[in-house]
Amino acid sequence: MAKAFDMVLFGGGGDLSLRKLIPALYRAFIEGGLDKGTRIFPVCRRQEDADAYMNTAQQALKTHLRDGEYSDKQWKAFSPLLRAVSLDISKPDEQWDVLVDLLGNDVERTRLFYLAIPPAVFGPCCENLSVKGLIHENSRVVVEKPLGYNAKTSDEINSKIAEYFREESIFRIDHYLGKETVQNLLALRFSNVLFEHLWDAKTIDQIQISINETVGLEGRAGFYDDTGAMRDMVQNHLLQLLCLIAMESPNSMSARNIRSEKIKVLEALRPLTDDDVDENIVRGQYVAGGLGEELVPGYLEELKAPNSTTETFVAIRAHIDNWRWTGVPFYLRTGKRMEKRCAEIVIQYKNVSHSVYQPEAGEVLPNRLVIRLQPEESIKLVLMAKKMDSLTMELQPVELNLSLSETYDSFKSDAYKRLMLDAAANNSALFIHRDEVAAAWAWVDPIMDRWRETNNQPQLYRAGTWGPQASNQLLAENGHHWFNP
Ligand code: BG6
Repeated sequence: MAKAFDMVLFGGGGDLSLRKLIPALYRAFIEGGLDKGTRIFPVCRRQEDADAYMNTAQQALKTHLRDGEYSDKQWKAFSPLLRAVSLDISKPDEQWDVLVDLLGNDVERTRLFYLAIPPAVFGPCCENLSVKGLIHENSRVVVEKPLGYNAKTSDEINSKIAEYFREESIFRIDHYLGKETVQNLLALRFSNVLFEHLWDAKTIDQIQISINETVGLEGRAGFYDDTGAMRDMVQNHLLQLLCLIAMESPNSMSARNIRSEKIKVLEALRPLTDDDVDENIVRGQYVAGGLGEELVPGYLEELKAPNSTTETFVAIRAHIDNWRWTGVPFYLRTGKRMEKRCAEIVIQYKNVSHSVYQPEAGEVLPNRLVIRLQPEESIKLVLMAKKMDSLTMELQPVELNLSLSETYDSFKSDAYKRLMLDAAANNSALFIHRDEVAAAWAWVDPIMDRWRETNNQPQLYRAGTWGPQASNQLLAENGHHWFNP
């Protein structure tokens, strides 16, 4: 259990706090992961919101926790940890003094400043924390993506934060790294000799990493339209997953070792510029379609802006130019309003070098390792075997299936819970270093530049499908196809 700490939650009344952070803290508390002496100070701009906060937080828990997780009794035990304050982040006026008094001056006690606020106010917020003398040696700041709009703006934001906090005290969250199954990916790779030896271009034919969502804009129209799938999902979550799949074994699981291996992957990613962008990336936008029983509107109708060309889908064929991966295509895909919600990594092995069976035995299909990150977390290995109960030799694919969600009944993965507790315990292994953010933008920027320069128009796809047809063609050019769940 982390030692009792203080957390100041800027943007305490915002969507992220109410949907994810307060539920994660509640969950940590009822599971015994949060010391009773921990204090959480959600910050609201208006006094009325601070006054009503306990009610707001309770309602948020009822709405966003899983069935059966909320109880009045647990709320009664948890709620004394919360104490909302009201202040204007950008003005160091006397309202801040309430926070100063509440925090006191125990420099031994860990202090987390969680900036669940727009990056434009990170600077003033950190400055006022400093002016008010609130940053001490055990203070850390936790920030969320989007960290900027491109390499330049991201660097500006990072430089601003760095004026007040040392890099070791800055915890940049990519919530995908807090997912239980994503950590399991590392365990799978680095604790099994089987995969240690079968993880390179000699044995692997192609790798697919997909994060497919069925949701649309979810009330975030303004933000999403300025951002698009490339910045919202590829620059961070997808590239992080790619790093974990492709990186060399770190010497240890220390934050420094993991980070340096991840950066090497990002630096070895073959740059996509000019024509390469058009040839290797498909950009899409959904139009109205059927999602299950439901008919959902298209992106432009949802947005209520007929001319937007923002992408809600991206498919990329990427290559990593190093000894381990040369020649292996990495297909990355993400989209909103896709046919199914599913985040999955598929590793398709090469075929056996020589088939010893007669053609009547059937085709020998390549092995496939499928790591399902969500929902219904599982790890599946597709192998070839003999068809049982058959007198002739017939081959068929069979699955070794480790269904994590079925095996662990009480499996309640919560990335934010894990990451907040790690930040409190000063464990930065699952957080992103400034250099990683810069390396990811360095790869993404020329792609976005090309789209802007060529006035790229997204390819349309019907909601409830697997994206534009061009995304299938992209893989077909290499004789491949998407392994849709
Ligand atoms: C967020 C994106 O970072 O990740 C959202 O901003 C996206 O657009 C979300 O929906 C997906 O996260 P998860 O954990 O639901 O897969």
